[in-house]
Amino acid sequence: MIREQLTDCPKDKQAEDKLQFGKTFTDHMFVMDYAAGKGWHDARIVPYAPFELDPSSMVLHYGQAIFEGLKAFRDINGRITMFRPRDNFLRMNRSAKRLCIPQIDVDFVMQALVRLIEIEKDWVPSAEGTALYIRPFIIATDPYLGVKVSDTYKFLIILSPSGPYYKNGFQPVSLYVENYYTRAAEGGTGEAKCSGNYAASLIASDKAKELGCDQVLWLDAKEKRYIEEVGSMNMFVVIGGEVLTASLDGTILPGITRDSIIKIFKDKGYKVTERKVSLDEIIGALKENRLDEAFGTGTAAVVSPVGKLRIGDEEYVIGDGKTGKITQMLYDTLTGIQRGKIEDKFGWLYRI
Ligand code: COI
Repeated sequence: MIREQLTDCPKDKQAEDKLQFGKTFTDHMFVMDYAAGKGWHDARIVPYAPFELDPSSMVLHYGQAIFEGLKAFRDINGRITMFRPRDNFLRMNRSAKRLCIPQIDVDFVMQALVRLIEIEKDWVPSAEGTALYIRPFIIATDPYLGVKVSDTYKFLIILSPSGPYYKNGFQPVSLYVENYYTRAAEGGTGEAKCSGNYAASLIASDKAKELGCDQVLWLDAKEKRYIEEVGSMNMFVVIGGEVLTASLDGTILPGITRDSIIKIFKDKGYKVTERKVSLDEIIGALKENRLDEAFGTGTAAVVSPVGKLRIGDEEYVIGDGKTGKITQMLYDTLTGIQRGKIEDKFGWLYRI
């Protein structure tokens, strides 16, 4: 059962052309608690508001926290549609396993999310490039300073009407290739969507910014030879007509957009290879003019063209620094399916 306590003072909505990514939130949120021996309980939809946490809550000290990111859209017929939402909750359970967090009931949280969006339906924007960004997360709440698995947790879903993740929208981004700090090592938490992965990445993002780049391209922790992923995206390159992306060997986030793009590529007859892709191979292709295109994929970032790579002191421009035809085709296909302009032959849409 989901208890509902609705607000009597709804907030004003921002104009759709002013929406930024993740800055404003809807009127309500979903919350449920977990206690060992009791399981998940007290599921409720309540007004969006700050909530109290004991200062000794374990999440604040040891970072036992996971999250997801997915989107709801208003399609061209005005209907509200989510994109592959079950896959996000299934991935959340895999992250939960890695972080010793209890599993959630995927059917139940789907039901909770659908109800929350029904209540917040007027917050789903319809302008091109906008969406209702959905952020489920779980935090450890035991008030305890010893290092152990928490016995209590909170699961929340908050909603944020959002514009594009990058302030310039669908424009080529520049990537700084990080050759000192690493994101994830074998056996680490690289494939889990846990908060600590993002905290540890910030120092390199700062370096990227200082160098005038938008994001960090991570290399593998062992040899610093192979590309892994970008701050908030999986990375693809197209070399001599072949699509290459890093294989999921445990250090890379198994992106749902990554998987969708691979399926779209295959459906269109492209050869897609998931394997280790070395930086040398990319530089070689750049020098021989065989690097056709590079782009990143992610829920927040959608499909994002990469126009520049900064490697050490060298700067390499990809495809004149402009959005390539393949990247444009992928963006149009994916957003076309999400908006109901293109047939959803993969069965990805969940209509509310
Ligand atoms: C997403 O794409 O939804 C993400 O979770 C990336 C986020 C760190 C903005």
